[in-house]
Amino acid sequence: MAEPMRVVVLVSGSGSNLQSLIDTVHEPGGDIEIVLVVSSHEGVPALDRAVRAGIATAVVGMSGRDRDERDRALADLVEAASPGLVVLAGWMSILTGEFLDRFPDRVINLHPSLLPSFPGLHAIEQALAWGVRYTGVTVHYAEEVVDGGPPILQEPVAVMYGDDAEALTARIREVEHRLVPEAVRLFAAGRVRRDPSDRRKVEIVPGEGE
Ligand code: GRF
Repeated sequence: MAEPMRVVVLVSGSGSNLQSLIDTVHEPGGDIEIVLVVSSHEGVPALDRAVRAGIATAVVGMSGRDRDERDRALADLVEAASPGLVVLAGWMSILTGEFLDRFPDRVINLHPSLLPSFPGLHAIEQALAWGVRYTGVTVHYAEEVVDGGPPILQEPVAVMYGDDAEALTARIREVEHRLVPEAVRLFAAGRVRRDPSDRRKVEIVPGEGE
């Protein structure tokens, strides 16, 4: 069996994706353990969810310093938790190489569209406004180019005629709450591999018996 996977989750708001990780893959002392939740903002529901699950929390905001300083402080804090994987689950603050380079190929981000379509903020509203028949969910490697890292998992979500942002968001959340735990399980099983000859290509290595 692979080493137990220590996971750090970065959040900024409601934490419904954190909650789905807590409810599905989190196992204190088990194969996958969320060891720390860090929020960019105080007083958000995601922090309450972590506390209820007995998971250590921290808040690392910009607090008037520049981004590089914040990212160095954040990386020091996260590194101290010795994560095998860092999951950006609704983390809404741009991260520079000061942070990302400390955890090469171990930071993944969740985005509510089929990247490269609709990167950045309000991806769901962008998809509705464009009139696409399908949007979706992407879990990808986090890189300095916002939402630019290569996808690891993607799943389409149909846009129904008459959908408003609320209806489409609910449909997208359901997929997110399945895809993020699936990505964490794949990493814990050592089944995600970036092609060294073409780092935009990501291989999901078949599981035993697949
Ligand atoms: C998710 O839709 C994620 O894709 C986006 O922010 C939302 C976070 O939701 N980046 P939650 O905080 O996990 O509920």
